[in-house]
Amino acid sequence: VRFDIFGEIWVKMDAGEYLVRRLERKDVDEKYFELLSDLTVAPVPEKERVDRLFSFMERHAETYHVFVVVQKSTQKIVGSGTLLVEHKFIRDLGKVGHIEDIVVLKEMQGEGLGKALVEHLAAYASEKGCYKTILACSEQNAAFYEKCGFVRKEIEMAMYHKG
Ligand code: ACO
Repeated sequence: VRFDIFGEIWVKMDAGEYLVRRLERKDVDEKYFELLSDLTVAPVPEKERVDRLFSFMERHAETYHVFVVVQKSTQKIVGSGTLLVEHKFIRDLGKVGHIEDIVVLKEMQGEGLGKALVEHLAAYASEKGCYKTILACSEQNAAFYEKCGFVRKEIEMAMYHKG
């Protein structure tokens, strides 16, 4: 797959036609936070704070690649996922892709959209020169990522902080 500079693709599923494209500033509204709240707590912040974060991501566009799935017939955002591109000293200044916050609207789950999104992000990471793409998920979601072409590797650890 070769992507244009925006990394957009159209996907055709049984349930209709969808565009996988970069998140735009105007997309980040209450509905978007509602979609994300299927992942974890995602309260709606003040618009100014959202704008500041969006500008930060734009300034670091080589690192942050947030994609959404848009339903063609309704122009509704029905999925979202992030690829972070980490630049390393090891592996001759190699790059690693990190997949984060993959979510599909509840009523649209099971249609193949999550898989199309993850495959897109992984292919995009490869196109950006990443030698691998990694992610952390629950045991419950492992089979989904296996269907997307990922394999189990090592273990995940976490330390939670107050802030
Ligand atoms: N267990 C086993 N198989 C699964 C699961 C599961 N939990 N979820 C999907 N699959 C299978 C499907 O049956 C399908 O198989 P097939 O190709 O043989 O038909 C294949 O995986 C692809 O499924 P999709 O329809 O593309 O998955 P969907 O669009 O429903 O998206 C997702 C999956 C993103 C996990 C969705 O259920 C969701 O949004 N869940 C809530 C949020 C969430 O948990 N996100 C993942 C967090 S981890 C992270 O972000 C790195």
